[in-house]
Amino acid sequence: MSDSAKLSYKGQEYEFPVITGTENESAIEIGKLRDVSGLITLDPGYKNTGATKSAITFLDGEEGILRYRGYKIDELSKKSTFLEVAYLLIYGELPTQAEYDAFSKEITQHTLVHEDIKKILAGFPSNAHPMGVLSSLICSLSAFYPDSLNPNQTDEEINLSIIRLLAKMPTFAAWAFKNKIGHPVNYPDNNLDYCANFLKMMFALPAEQYESDPVVATALDKLLILHADHEQNCSTSTVRMVGSSQASIYAAISAGINALWGPLHGGANQSVIEMLEAIKADGGDAKKYLDKAKDKNDPFRLMGFGHRVYKNFDPRAKIIKQAADEVLSRLGVTDPVLEIAKELEYAALNDQYFIDRKLYPNVDFYSGIIYRALGIPTDMFTVMFALGRLPGWIAQWKEMRENKEPIGRPRQVYVGATEREYVFINKR
Ligand code: ACO
Repeated sequence: MSDSAKLSYKGQEYEFPVITGTENESAIEIGKLRDVSGLITLDPGYKNTGATKSAITFLDGEEGILRYRGYKIDELSKKSTFLEVAYLLIYGELPTQAEYDAFSKEITQHTLVHEDIKKILAGFPSNAHPMGVLSSLICSLSAFYPDSLNPNQTDEEINLSIIRLLAKMPTFAAWAFKNKIGHPVNYPDNNLDYCANFLKMMFALPAEQYESDPVVATALDKLLILHADHEQNCSTSTVRMVGSSQASIYAAISAGINALWGPLHGGANQSVIEMLEAIKADGGDAKKYLDKAKDKNDPFRLMGFGHRVYKNFDPRAKIIKQAADEVLSRLGVTDPVLEIAKELEYAALNDQYFIDRKLYPNVDFYSGIIYRALGIPTDMFTVMFALGRLPGWIAQWKEMRENKEPIGRPRQVYVGATEREYVFINKR
């Protein structure tokens, strides 16, 4: 017999099914709550609300577990490539060699973007943040491929949009950067793999030969894997929500990029480096900033600390911290900001305020340090996150569509004025 949960309210008792996932997570299914009792649930920030059943990513915040389709993140980050992980997330299984070769080839063949994209790019002021540019360019794909507006596209047509997104996103990301610094854009080089091609489009100069450093390309590939999915976070939920209205996949992914941009989400990686630099410029006193973060009258927060779900440790942060040490030593980079980061981490992990609130470094505490060492400018950090998260967004969008999920439409508890009479301006 399946479990159920009872709710009693005003002398009435209501029974709701409890459903259990494959990792024994249980949830009360309250879809009929309002119909039977007139009540809704109130849960700002959806801290306790399961919005969907998903078979893509499992994470256990207490145990610090993260798995994509059942595979451990540390194993994937050591053994896989980003495109292999993208295939796994989107299609549910690791590819065979033949499937992988075909998938990589298809992506490589779609890296070029319409020349008119350059006109859109030219319309942005040079100080435009690359995240805004990226989300606009991704959304513009709905104009270049208007077929994507048809909610009844075949699976084959949908798959073409997926390939286009994966193929063109690095081109857009690199072009957003080139536009910002006033350099001519580089076209994709289809002889290179995903990360090496992206690095070339980012850093090659017209007058010079460019060859990407394999250490840099490998580190980047690993970072993208670590960011590839994270179940129902703010940007992913946004992608599913926008997708649930049957808007084009390009519009849904563009919305996800915008949701990721904020400093409480993906924008944290940029904020972490800015914070560490500010601490350095202010004499490098980590304790002073720790005290600021604890002061309720001070809006300052320790960026890169805390997570909605991980309340023990973020498994990605562990891998990234080690990768940061490796990359810096292999590239021979000494970064004083890394020392401040380590000092701050040590101080926070031993401070009662942070211990009581279970605040640990998250994935973004160290990712910015690696991006810096790889030569990626600070305002491109969140773009790098978006590049990594893309396959996760796509997989979640595809799952939402395949599950035929209803349009997302939360309710509210209204607390505004009750009905009142309109009074003309000259009588008020
Ligand atoms: N510095 C100082 N105090 C913090 C921090 C922090 N970074 N994070 C949380 N707290 C405190 C809050 O003030 C609150 O204290 P209180 O109970 O005394 O009021 C308590 O810890 C709980 O914080 P909430 O904001 O309620 O936790 P929530 O789960 O809603 O927020 C979040 C999680 C947004 C990640 C938060 O920890 C934060 O702002 N961190 C800094 C930004 C950041 O690094 N974001 C990246 C997240 S990872 C990602 O998106 C990839």
